[in-house]
Amino acid sequence: MQINGATRLFGILGHPVTHSLSPAMHNAALENMGINGVYVPMDVTDLEAGVAGLRALGFVGLSVTIPHKEDIMRHLDEIDPVARRIGAVNTLHFRQHPDSGERILRGFNTDWLGSNLALAEAMSLPDSRVLVLGAGGAAKGVCFGLVEAGARVFVSNRSHERGQALADWLGCEFVPSDAISEIKAHALVNTTSVGMEPDVNGIPVDPALLPRFSVVMDIVYAPLETRLLREARAAGCVVVDGLAMLLNQAAVQLKIWTGAKPPLLVMRQALVSALRG
Ligand code: ATR
Repeated sequence: MQINGATRLFGILGHPVTHSLSPAMHNAALENMGINGVYVPMDVTDLEAGVAGLRALGFVGLSVTIPHKEDIMRHLDEIDPVARRIGAVNTLHFRQHPDSGERILRGFNTDWLGSNLALAEAMSLPDSRVLVLGAGGAAKGVCFGLVEAGARVFVSNRSHERGQALADWLGCEFVPSDAISEIKAHALVNTTSVGMEPDVNGIPVDPALLPRFSVVMDIVYAPLETRLLREARAAGCVVVDGLAMLLNQAAVQLKIWTGAKPPLLVMRQALVSALRG
């Protein structure tokens, strides 16, 4: 791609961002879409100065990652109502006010849509029953999406208090870890970090329970085939790997920024190559 005076600027704000797979995925997409644009990683700690800089430099769209998804909300002109309900923003878009010409910065959340789109590749969500493991930031987006899609959600988490708080927020059921075997659900989604490198032998649920689920999704993507997914596949489940949510939430971001349909296959290939280093 030729960078020139018309190149549009995109990027990711996080701390740290060195290992982010998003630049590889988004740059592959921009190139394939024929968009004269570049997506760069930006390690930012001072969000106020960071946002002022992006505004002054004419950036178009940004991803926001750990640890800024909540704090960024204080620095925006507008927040999408769904992102406000979730309490986290992972996508920024600058647009020009049609009258004043002023640049307006709006925040969105695409994580919950990414999770829904990933799971919907394997099953129908309305009226399904889904057991979600974990109650952190990622679980919030996953559970919110499932409830929006009309699924019945069960939340299980190591710390009872955090799990109960998430379940209460969405009006779903909390399931203590020792009662998971009593839950009948179509799908299991792992949002905890269990099984992530370097502890690749970790598994967030008793493998003996896996044959009960038709679909198992893991949001851990390093390794791409976690022990959970390996055991689930062996148990006959349809598996959805950790790149699916990352990919689909990014596709929604690109749609917001460009209005065009993103090339999912190209983006997935870029993610897999970036993961392999
Ligand atoms: P994220 O924003 O990526 O979801 P997080 O907010 O730190 O990260 O949440 C991590 C989740 O993984 C939590 O649900 C955490 O459980 P606790 O709330 O009990 O801390 C879960 N988790 C992390 N390590 C775990 C482990 N070894 N066993 C079980 N759950 C674990």
